[in-house]
Amino acid sequence: MKPFCDSFGRTHSYLRVSVTDACNMRCTYCDPSHTGRFANDRLLSMQEILRIVRLFVTGHGITKLRLTGGEPMVRRDILQLFRGIGELKTTYPLTVGMTTNGTLLFDHLPSLRALGLDALNISLDSLDRDRFHSITGMDALPHILESFRRAQELGFPSVKANVVIMQGVNDHEIPDFVRFAAEHSLTVRFIEYMPFAKNKWESDRFIDFRSMKQIAEQEGTLIPMAYQPHSVSKDFRIAGTNGMVSFISSVSDHFCGGCNRLRLTADGQLRTCLFALPSMETDLRTLLRSREGSDEAIADAVRNVLKNKWEKHPDPDTIVSTQHSVMRAIGG
Ligand code: GTP
Ligand code: 5AD
Ligand code: SF4
Repeated sequence: MKPFCDSFGRTHSYLRVSVTDACNMRCTYCDPSHTGRFANDRLLSMQEILRIVRLFVTGHGITKLRLTGGEPMVRRDILQLFRGIGELKTTYPLTVGMTTNGTLLFDHLPSLRALGLDALNISLDSLDRDRFHSITGMDALPHILESFRRAQELGFPSVKANVVIMQGVNDHEIPDFVRFAAEHSLTVRFIEYMPFAKNKWESDRFIDFRSMKQIAEQEGTLIPMAYQPHSVSKDFRIAGTNGMVSFISSVSDHFCGGCNRLRLTADGQLRTCLFALPSMETDLRTLLRSREGSDEAIADAVRNVLKNKWEKHPDPDTIVSTQHSVMRAIGG
């Protein structure tokens, strides 16, 4: 077993795979224009994704895998990928998650559970039907709430709601979300709004996690949970309930010191950071499709690009002034 380490001694055991940059929603904080999608021949096939996943899990100590998008469930062949991953899980310790907008989930939940999906993170940016519609471009709130209920009934080990908080848009719903977490015994994660290409980030739409926490505390006492070394979130139990709230402070208080994450984009670029620059990516797609693309050559490419991983991502002003990819092409 040869773990993937960077020059700061961080071992990378978590792989996030964006399976498509397509999405059926148009969230305002993502890329509502939805222009400039990858051509089909640039997208990795499920066999190619599975080859990388298998190599990383069997040879390089990846123990956590998360499928993202765009919206992962828009890939018609997604269950094929879950089947392959499920087989790996029978021999290797692997936790499998998916981050999804929840619109295409309901009918597939039993199969996904049977195929070994452990953790579902579902976007839920408002509990108000009209506001949900205006943020996401889809009138889907009732359907998504049904998917939450069904996922909990089916016994998924982890079901979390991801809420991107934007000042003047949904910040006043923080107390409602705290009550929602308490009533349904699930985890709601309040995420700081991050700047990306084409997502119209403005500093006056931004609220830091401390302010969000103060608002949340009006609804109940928040008991801090033990710090998890690689976690992106600060976690709290809502006193007297089984509900949890978490804060993801990507902008105001980075958590790069514990970063264990590698990202594979839908077009097969391996990224060492959510905010990585092109020089911090390596093109695994071309390598995979070439004669030189042996397992060892792929692993070498990953090790090389990890040598240049930075210690932490730049400050928001630098991020805003740099040309970044759109969020749906990176997968969060
Ligand atoms: P868990 O396994 O449940 O902790 O999932 P996760 O938080 O790793 O994944 P998810 O896709 O739900 O991401 C939640 C939010 O955290 C999104 O806004 C991501 O963009 C953000 N996020 C995930 N990983 C990183 C990271 O390495 N750096 C930063 N800055 N944000 C991240
Ligand atoms: N800032 C913070 N979180 C974001 N997400 C998408 N765009 C942004 C952004 N600009 C979240 C989505 C999804 C996860 C993949 O990333 O809500 O839950
Ligand atoms: Fe789609 Fe997720 Fe982007 Fe919303 S944030 S448009 S659900 S990829």
